[in-house]
Amino acid sequence: MKTQVGIVGAGPAGLVLAHLLERAGIESIVLETQPRQYIEGRVRAGVLEQGTVDLLNELALGERMMRQGLMHYGIELRFKGRGHRIDFKQLTGGKGVMIYAQHEVIKDLVAARVAAGGQICFEAREVGLHEIDSENPVIRFTQNGAAMELQCDFIAGCDGFHGVCRDSIPSGVLKTYDREYPFGWLGILAEAPPASDELIYANHERGFALLSMRSPKISRLYLQCRPDEDLDEWPDDRIWEELHLRLATRDGFALTRGRVLQKGVTGMRSFVVEPMQFGSLFLAGDSAHIVPPTGAKGLNLAVADVRVLALGLEEFYRTGKRELLQRYSEICLRRVWKIQRFSWWMTSLLHKFGSDSEFDRRRQLAELDYVTSSLAASTTLAENYVGLPFELGQEPE
Ligand code: FAD
Ligand code: PHB
Repeated sequence: MKTQVGIVGAGPAGLVLAHLLERAGIESIVLETQPRQYIEGRVRAGVLEQGTVDLLNELALGERMMRQGLMHYGIELRFKGRGHRIDFKQLTGGKGVMIYAQHEVIKDLVAARVAAGGQICFEAREVGLHEIDSENPVIRFTQNGAAMELQCDFIAGCDGFHGVCRDSIPSGVLKTYDREYPFGWLGILAEAPPASDELIYANHERGFALLSMRSPKISRLYLQCRPDEDLDEWPDDRIWEELHLRLATRDGFALTRGRVLQKGVTGMRSFVVEPMQFGSLFLAGDSAHIVPPTGAKGLNLAVADVRVLALGLEEFYRTGKRELLQRYSEICLRRVWKIQRFSWWMTSLLHKFGSDSEFDRRRQLAELDYVTSSLAASTTLAENYVGLPFELGQEPE
């Protein structure tokens, strides 16, 4: 097989890239190790930045999202038993975020790609990258037991944190920046109408809790837990009881309970590799960086990377110039580090750290008080949460 851009991974990064390239008249083939049904059912992110929403609409992929998604123009920060609203609309000149599940985005992207005759090879196994330091890289894999080969001009490594693309780069090229947190999130999806119209991020002595949602009938809730938390120790009643304690307010906030549809534990880390490119291989999304989910940024950052990559590839196929492609890593990393900073900051503002002293606790509460009472500080949170502007600018000297 032969194509212009071989895309490894059918997550948000790989699929959005395939659509952007199609719009620019560039051919691509997506290789995905999982079956279609699996990627269309995997429960993950839920918050789309305004820029992500606008891009999906521009690509005519947002029809179902606009019908079924929930536009939110604020969040609540809850601490010391009181809620404080951060008003995005007012603080950002009218911007907001869309609550729409990642796997629904995936369904929409896959359906549109298949309908347009685009190729996605599901259940591609033993994927291996070859000759990535040349202008004729090759991807070898197996499908239904048969050995396959895909020749391309470029490879987009969109295969997430545990993929193979990052590790195909020779050792010594990449520099890794990594931070693990001493906690994880226990997440549930529940058949219960959300107890609040907007997301609630709660800082509590017992640990962080988050109330989110997927629809007017389905709640998505998270609890800070140990990174290796054993789900068997968390029967549904215990989860509800703990959520109730951490989300409690002085005026008797009532959590709506319901049947738990899904449970899982997610570890938390901050991770970046530099550069995000080697030879003909460009890393995008979680294959190059991970953020803790507290800022709701991972999917959105993956989409921002592939916007840059698509523009670079478009310039190359239109004019033969590699100017943007050569600056791909530099352009992306500028945003990546700002998003790392924000996600780390939201995480440290809201979680209980095992090593916390009484001093740290007071400082954290003072910071929450400041963020929710200062126009400057709440504007900083709001403009980051709804999404920083997309830029291709040069790095400042
Ligand atoms: P992925 O979505 O991981 O996609 C990679 C794809 O590559 C997968 O389909 C995988 O099967 C495939 N693959 C892997 N290896 C291979 C291989 N060798 N060959 C071929 N294919 C391969 N982000 C937000 O923006 N907002 C949120 O609210 C948010 N909440 C989150 C909550 C949780 C609990 C979690 C876990 C994550 C959350 N995120 C959130 C992060 C977000 O889900 C990820 O950042 C996003 O999925 C990254 O997209 P991606 O396309 O880079 O990678
Ligand atoms: C979610 O709804 O899954 C969600 C919302 C906000 C976050 C992380 C996850 O910060």
